[in-house]
Amino acid sequence: MNFIPYGKQSIDKDDIESVVETLKSDFLTTGPKVKEFEEAIASYCGAKYCVAVTNGTGALHLTSLVLLKKGDRVLTTPNSFLATSNSILYIDAKPIFVDIAKDGNIDLDLCEEELKKDNSIKAIYSVAFSGNMVNQEKLKYLKEKYGILILEDNAHAIGAVYNGIKAGSCINSDCSIFSFHPVKHLTTGEGGAITTNSKEIYEKILTLRGHGMVKTPNMKPWEYEMRELGFNYRITDIQCALGISQLKKLDNFINKRVEIAKKYDKAFERTIVKPLYTYNGKSSYHLYVVQVDFTKLNISKEKLFIKMKEKNIGLQLHYIPINKQPYYKSLGYGDEKTPIMDNYYRECFSLPMFPKLSDKEQSYVIASLREVLNG
Ligand SMILES: Cc1ncc(COP(=O)(O)O)c(C=O)c1O
Repeated sequence: MNFIPYGKQSIDKDDIESVVETLKSDFLTTGPKVKEFEEAIASYCGAKYCVAVTNGTGALHLTSLVLLKKGDRVLTTPNSFLATSNSILYIDAKPIFVDIAKDGNIDLDLCEEELKKDNSIKAIYSVAFSGNMVNQEKLKYLKEKYGILILEDNAHAIGAVYNGIKAGSCINSDCSIFSFHPVKHLTTGEGGAITTNSKEIYEKILTLRGHGMVKTPNMKPWEYEMRELGFNYRITDIQCALGISQLKKLDNFINKRVEIAKKYDKAFERTIVKPLYTYNGKSSYHLYVVQVDFTKLNISKEKLFIKMKEKNIGLQLHYIPINKQPYYKSLGYGDEKTPIMDNYYRECFSLPMFPKLSDKEQSYVIASLREVLNG
């Protein structure tokens, strides 16, 4: 069996052809493919506006520049990739880590407790962990009742639908971001996007993506004005050509992921391997996360990872609590009361999940996991 990673892109002939076509065209960057990709993402999600950028981290940075200012307090989750809360730090704002609920997402009831105690909280940065959107009714309620800003980090969740609400539609949030890294649902190599329904936010993000530079029709032909400090977070037409082609196949990719999840669900029924959640009709399954109580076994998690690697299977762990990272500890974080996250971190790991994972490979992963855990 060849090595099976936890995640991997699916690139076909049509993807390659679209990229080659763009390579032969007049524009490698700032050309028509960028706009086409942005419009396709906005339309897929049902949002009014989309800005495509270099990566998900850039999307978070630009959004934070618009939503936050120095000193703002932001509720966020320890169960994410570093970039979510790093983007709050980029602005010299203050992340406040709230424990997770049993589904791995930020606990919105605990968020409400924080909001009741502290009326200076500016925003919630939530993450649709593993592809499973946060409770949208509760998000709406918190936004309306406490007048806070909401950023949905949907890096894991393009294509997810929660009671008719699509990830990235920003029905109950100010902005949403995506990542198009190769392990995600669709890829542009590196890439990301922001969606919003606010024209004002959209225009600010567009300007900040390109150095804070503005060019208006009444200016002289060579003129441009830098009105604020921006960045170069432009994505190329080459990447967007790949993204447009990938987006056409997104629903098929998700169907394949759901099939794999159902097979895993069935295989682990009534075993010590507990899926973070079983099929709920909502998740777009970027990850398939399971939990095992290692205190009841003769094998440690470290040994499990090593033994599975020997069998050519790449497990992964999502995530080490962000607040426990050395840099965050140096800022005074790490001692928050997050018992659910702490227990989850002890027990969790992610199994291979990507559209091209064959039936045979799925069965091999299941059998190998059983064997190693029981051995
Ligand atoms: C939840 C989450 N947010 C943000 C990011 C950052 O995205 P990128 O790697 O495209 O910068 C990631 C990437 O893994 C992620 O998983």
